Amino acid sequence: MELPKRQAEFDPVEYAKRNYGHIMAEDRTIIHHMAHHIRRMPMRRAERVADVGTGPNLYPAMLMSALVADEGSIDLIEPGEPSLQFLETLLYTQTGIYYGRDSDGREQSIDTRALWPKFSNLITITGRHVAFTNTYLRTRLLADCIPGDIFELPEKHYDHASSFFVAETITDDEAECALAIRSLVSCVRPGGTFFVGMMVGNEDWPADEIVRFPVARLTMPDVRQMFDDIPEAYRTDIRFISGPTNRTRSGYSGMALAIGTRTP
Ligand SMILES: C[S@@+](CC[C@H](N)C(=O)[O-])C[C@H]1O[C@@H](n2cnc3c(N)ncnc32)[C@H](O)[C@@H]1O
Repeated sequence: MELPKRQAEFDPVEYAKRNYGHIMAEDRTIIHHMAHHIRRMPMRRAERVADVGTGPNLYPAMLMSALVADEGSIDLIEPGEPSLQFLETLLYTQTGIYYGRDSDGREQSIDTRALWPKFSNLITITGRHVAFTNTYLRTRLLADCIPGDIFELPEKHYDHASSFFVAETITDDEAECALAIRSLVSCVRPGGTFFVGMMVGNEDWPADEIVRFPVARLTMPDVRQMFDDIPEAYRTDIRFISGPTNRTRSGYSGMALAIGTRTP
């Protein structure tokens, strides 16, 4: 797969520290709504789920791990080499310490495992169901990271799938962003659930302190229209989560969280 330059420039160390070094208010709210939804679904029965464009963010997969059977699997699908290495370090190495370089070529490191216990605790407390216990360890046991592209997902393959802050950050073309969301919905088997998080109002997003990527600048009506235009997306609940935190700077107003079912 030809890797777009922006994914190769992505700095997972700075990104992970900035976004997941502590739990931001928006992520708390997303965890609350996802856990509430998942609690009403059949727990620990899914054979395979996917998180697409995982980057260094494990918490969507951790939430979905409550749905996955003990012998099931979680695919963390990601095209960017630095993010894949971050995930490989987290899942497969002894130390969990990832070494990378920032955009100036300076060496830096992060303990990829230190970020997630606080999310795991929050998910346990918020989830109020035994299936939400130890989701961090469960995810490490069940997950594999896989090189892949949101536009090339297998049709009707996954019991459930999630994608957070991906489609709108791949491109500044709204139509291409909508195609990415459609592809995500299509990879879910009929009756399965998709969970999508999107940033609203952004003009760009910082990959690190220096590099900024253009994004599709979305409003909530844009997001609603995108899901309305996907015939396979059924009963999609879309809510706005306002964003007081400094996740990105230009025009950012908050998140859209879409949770829906894939029709046959
Ligand atoms: C803003 S980051 C979001 C990362 C993570 N999901 C999170 O919640 O923080 C965007 C991610 O999308 C990935 N990405 C970019 N193009 C992609 C594509 N065509 N298919 C899947 N993922 C892609 C990037 O490599 C990066 O990890």
